Amino acid sequence: MSFESRVSSWDPKPQTRNMVPGTRNAECIAIALPKGRLLPFAMALFERMGITCLQDFADSRRLICEDADRRLQFLTLKPTDIPTYVERGAADMGIVGKDQLLEQRRDVYEPLDLRFGACRLVVAEPVELRKQDDPHSWSHLRLATKYPNLAEAYFGRKGIQAEIIKLNGSLELAPLVGLAERIVDLVETGQTLKENGLVEVEEITRSTARLIVNRASLKTKYRRVQDLIEEMRKQVEAHAARARE
Ligand code: PRP
Repeated sequence: MSFESRVSSWDPKPQTRNMVPGTRNAECIAIALPKGRLLPFAMALFERMGITCLQDFADSRRLICEDADRRLQFLTLKPTDIPTYVERGAADMGIVGKDQLLEQRRDVYEPLDLRFGACRLVVAEPVELRKQDDPHSWSHLRLATKYPNLAEAYFGRKGIQAEIIKLNGSLELAPLVGLAERIVDLVETGQTLKENGLVEVEEITRSTARLIVNRASLKTKYRRVQDLIEEMRKQVEAHAARARE
């Protein structure tokens, strides 16, 4: 049997009947949550919606948990992988920073700004370099970043040739060891820049956490997906109103 015919004859339903506890349940709406900084905020949002299965989830090594009553499943993933899971339908919905959506440009529906996880994508360099640097005179830069597409587009628009070194974390180390003169990275409190002798030079864009939805799920699970979006929207608005009081 060819690969194509095996794929086209594949029926996921028998697997769901023999469901091993803790695996993907096709009857559920699967929501991908980002590990790291956004996770406590995302969990708090669902807890305010009365979902209790997330208690202890953050501290455990489990990657999937289920609220059987509400037919919801939660997956925890690296933030950079969330658009992939949602675009391909391995998760129906996900929570991810706008920074990743701008960087990855995946084909997902983005119905809601969740308003937490506010941060900025900036160009930064060592304090000493900043004293003698004039950004208006930049023509060629060597920089390290987790956001090669955003960095290339930003400097391309300015007519600056950027040699981009793609890294996956601890960006602030790169200028300290001579890997790159500058970095393009997220800043939230500014503490990491400060503690590593770097200063912000330019802001590229701003980011907050967004809800994203798989385009097929939006059609095949329309009512449940829309109800969840509305429930989350109300929670976000109520939370913002409480914060203003
Ligand atoms: C992010 C970002 C900065 C830091 C900024 O890294 O890449 O390094 O947070 O936060 P601050 O302005 O509040 O100090 P993260 O902690 O996600 O880890 P990483 O360096 O491994 O990517």
